[in-house]
Amino acid sequence: MFIQSLALHDFRNYRDQHYRFTQPVTILSGENAQGKTNFLESIYLISSGRSPRERKNKNLIAFDQANAQITAELQTGARNYRATLQINADEKRLTVDHSVIQRASDWMGTFNAIYLSPADLELVIGEPGGRRAFLDLLLTRQNRSYLHTAQQYQQLLKNRNSALKQSAFDSGYLDTLDAQLAETGSAMIRGRTALLTELDPLVATQLTEIINAPVILRYQPGGSGAVDVYRDRLAQKRHLDQLTGTTSVGPHRDDFIIMTGDKEARLFASNGQQRAIALALRLAEAQLLRDAAGSPPVLLFDDVLLELDEPNTAAILTAVSHYEQILMTTTAVDQIPQAVLGRADIVQVQHGTLFHPEAL
Ligand SMILES: Nc1ncnc2c1ncn2[C@@H]1O[C@H](COP(=O)(O)OP(=O)(O)OP(=O)(O)O)[C@@H](O)[C@H]1O
Ligand SMILES: [Mg+2]
Repeated sequence: MFIQSLALHDFRNYRDQHYRFTQPVTILSGENAQGKTNFLESIYLISSGRSPRERKNKNLIAFDQANAQITAELQTGARNYRATLQINADEKRLTVDHSVIQRASDWMGTFNAIYLSPADLELVIGEPGGRRAFLDLLLTRQNRSYLHTAQQYQQLLKNRNSALKQSAFDSGYLDTLDAQLAETGSAMIRGRTALLTELDPLVATQLTEIINAPVILRYQPGGSGAVDVYRDRLAQKRHLDQLTGTTSVGPHRDDFIIMTGDKEARLFASNGQQRAIALALRLAEAQLLRDAAGSPPVLLFDDVLLELDEPNTAAILTAVSHYEQILMTTTAVDQIPQAVLGRADIVQVQHGTLFHPEAL
């Protein structure tokens, strides 16, 4: 996959910026707070409809404006798309080749970009919610029906939790909800089981010389992949769930543990190992998406190389050298190995403007 051009209008600190990509590697260089992350964020938004760091539409729009627009010319395999994302405070509207995309699932997985940043460390050491979100986005991009199932599940869970809180307890209604929850929840767990089975050997082969210990992903489902077992567990917990007003069984309680050898990485891996494992998860994600879509995703490296020493930087750049397009941000171009600079387009970012240093 390749982004041929990107046009930003009133997006974050960009007023009107158009850029045409020419090289497999684009290096966005600039001081802090100039718009490097914003630029990568806009590409991720086109790919997935969401920002890697911001939930509120309003904050994506230039401070004094009401709308933002991102337009990209995209190439994946033999196909070309022109995608425009319009953002206002209340909604995002994606138009691809003049048709409005009605459902996110119709676009997910068509053009994949992966955002890699130091915040990915949270995947290794943070709360389970981040790991569930990682699995869900990947499943959504791999398989369009998953998003629908997950949305249905969330709604059913909400209904069950509010039914549990009612003083006049309707057990017939709860029976129906439990049956539906068991159907959708077990489907999610089967999806996540299959994904982790695929992901586990892929993660284990990434960046082995940096991590220096076998990485194993161990799924901890909050329910069962078998509908009957799942429904029985819901029934067993109903009384307890009534007391707390929450549902204690289901994929919303899932997690996966990351092991280095026989130890939990979260607790025992070194900081450098944890960072490399986070990166390995992203690279495994990229490999899975490449297989699902038949074309490798675009990699967006945001400050990832910042805290690495030279051999590790070189190892990572070698591991991704076969990707069609990589964008990376840096505050210091001289930190990037000469071999990469040789095939890179180096762009200066300053106050929401992109330019080539030699054009000054
Ligand atoms: N909605 C917005 N409207 C206008 N400017 C914004 C908006 N949101 C963020 N900014 C500005 O964008 C700048 C930050 O941009 P960005 O995060 O892309 O910086 P960066 O170049 O990645 O910096 P660093 O090297 O520190 O990561 C800040 O100056 C911030 O005030
Ligand atoms: Mg940044």
